[in-house]
Amino acid sequence: MSETNNICDIIIFGGHGDLALRKLMPALYHLSNDGHLNRQSRIISVSRKAVTQEDHLELIKSKLNEFLKEGLFDEALFDLFAAQLSYVKVDATDHDDYAGLAETLALFPDRERVNYLSTSPSLYGVTCKELDSWKLIEPTSRVVLEKPIGRDLASSQVINDEVARYFEESAIYRIDHYLGKDTVQNILALRFSNALFMPLWNSRNIDHIQITVSETVGLEGRWGYYDDFGAMRDMIQNHLLQLLCLVAMEPPYNLNGDSVRDEKLKVLRSLRPIGPEEIAQKTVRGQYTKGISGTEAVPGYLEEDGGNETSSTETFAALRVDIDNWRWNRVPFYLRTGKRMRERYSEIMIQFKEVPHSIFPKGGNCLESNKLIIRLQPDEGITLSIMNKIPGLSEGMRLRGVDLDLSIPEKSVRTAEAYEHLLLDVIRASPTLFMRRDEVEAAWIWADEILNAWQTQQTKMKPYPAGSEGPTASIALIERDNRSWHD
Ligand code: BG6
Repeated sequence: MSETNNICDIIIFGGHGDLALRKLMPALYHLSNDGHLNRQSRIISVSRKAVTQEDHLELIKSKLNEFLKEGLFDEALFDLFAAQLSYVKVDATDHDDYAGLAETLALFPDRERVNYLSTSPSLYGVTCKELDSWKLIEPTSRVVLEKPIGRDLASSQVINDEVARYFEESAIYRIDHYLGKDTVQNILALRFSNALFMPLWNSRNIDHIQITVSETVGLEGRWGYYDDFGAMRDMIQNHLLQLLCLVAMEPPYNLNGDSVRDEKLKVLRSLRPIGPEEIAQKTVRGQYTKGISGTEAVPGYLEEDGGNETSSTETFAALRVDIDNWRWNRVPFYLRTGKRMRERYSEIMIQFKEVPHSIFPKGGNCLESNKLIIRLQPDEGITLSIMNKIPGLSEGMRLRGVDLDLSIPEKSVRTAEAYEHLLLDVIRASPTLFMRRDEVEAAWIWADEILNAWQTQQTKMKPYPAGSEGPTASIALIERDNRSWHD
């Protein structure tokens, strides 16, 4: 594979943090070794600890060994990769501390720079300010912001305003790592490269849509962060709404920068607000109690390490969402996500309407509506369920549902991780898969209304045992509409 011509400096603030070591370095290792990142590009890790170059390389090597998928670490390739790595100590809040970074960057003053802020969002503003005061921001420089960008509209605006003082909107890359997943991008391919689905993709033919992101993990040592956020802010405001947008949006006129984001924004602005009078009908919030995850006994949310017994943060949320536009009139979207659930999977299920009239004998024949299931992870794939005749000579025609597997197995090819896609797109200065400020804000406006209603009404938390399907109230939520979850 030929090396990319893009030579850049990638500066990772929070370079020794969990995200940088677990996700960013493995992604850069693959990009470099697969020829997508020019070997002359530098990867400069920045954090406030004083660390020698040798210790930095040792740390990166051991973390790559730990976090790369089995068999993918290669000593010789690491040596090549290591030549691109360096470390600079910077305390983000200390002006003078940026001198070392300035000196390192001055070696190649004309290079494009990617500033990846993998720190607490409270440091985004000051980091950008210091980069500016040290004249380290060039017209081609970009800045990457990790979520969470705020915990509501007001706090997201503060962060975005701070960053906007130093970077143009077109240079700001806000990450939602779900958009980097191959299977998520495939939603665009499925919808817009197949004429088959387009005429069916509307309220005339679709009964409802379900989006589920079910996790078996608990908090993985992140109680401090998570308790301030909960499932609504951590998952629904961003990942699930982005999935909903890709399923619901109108065809963009091309795949470039703003056309996809313009269409997603229209969907976000068409979400029907869920106000206090509907909150009990249309939402469920839950929190896990102790239970069994796999074969292991695990504590409840309140007993997790670092937790406190009075928290009212939700670890599960289910919602009925309506989109007020022509295409989706009266087609509900049911969203649910939770931690410590029985199974780990993410999927989108599109349920079509029933046939208008059945010509088949009733006895033993129950016509099931067609379903298109887009499985995002694990075991990614696309399945279309249809009704089929049971072969044989039985009297009358007997039917059964069968699944057509529409996915093409490509097991021999390594699937690129979400962060590889996203980092490569930042390097290429391609913004389509990143969230624009107006998108983030539209999502917060809608989510804030629910969060406020939950707070003012002190909506009751529904407990569910770890390792279960979530609170039974979420089953009631969908059954009120005479529908059921696809499990
Ligand atoms: C992150 C959330 O954004 O996404 C985590 O903060 C969550 O709480 C994670 O576990 C899920 O990502 P994935 O790729 O494992 O589905």
